[in-house]
Amino acid sequence: MEQTELVKPDTLEDLIQTLHKLFESDSVNVEEVQSIMESYDSKPHEWMKYATFDQYRYTRNLVDEGNGKFNLMILCWGEGHGSSIHDHTDSHCFLKLLQGQLKETLFDWPDHKLQAGMLQKSQQVLLENQCAYINDSLGLHRVENVSHTETAVSLHLYSPPFQTCRTFDQRTGHHNSVKMTFWSKFGERTPYESTVSQENN
Ligand code: SIN
Repeated sequence: MEQTELVKPDTLEDLIQTLHKLFESDSVNVEEVQSIMESYDSKPHEWMKYATFDQYRYTRNLVDEGNGKFNLMILCWGEGHGSSIHDHTDSHCFLKLLQGQLKETLFDWPDHKLQAGMLQKSQQVLLENQCAYINDSLGLHRVENVSHTETAVSLHLYSPPFQTCRTFDQRTGHHNSVKMTFWSKFGERTPYESTVSQENN
């Protein structure tokens, strides 16, 4: 496979350009994408226009559609906001901290034969500029801003893009299929009707 020469991106725009190059090929080099996302030093003035918060739940704000290969988005987490336990619909998920901290808890897939609650595999606190990675073969996760005083902002890349995922009840292991929506797209608030079905948080 042809190797792209990776230069540390100075700006969010540089990072987006590099991601476009990395995703030109059909195979995804996970380490390469993770390391280029991690190497970008977050500068709030570069992503501020996408960072819109809601009082009650985290928001998903679309930044770039990656020529159909990926969706890049900024998630804004108010104090105490968190996601459900969810899968990633057979996609790659890269999650980089732009500001604040997030707790990521990993779970095994529920074992329906046991009809028991879901087992927690591991937990990590992601710090500013760190980039985590997950896909369905590694398990499921829940992401939370556990701080009562600080908000958090994260940059997520999903490839291929997906519009629905499954959320899981930790106690029973039962799941629901939910539609993922955007609070804003390219810095513009999306119309109210298209965000009401957001149920992953
Ligand atoms: C995640 O999977 O890291 C966050 C959930 C989301 O995209 O809404």
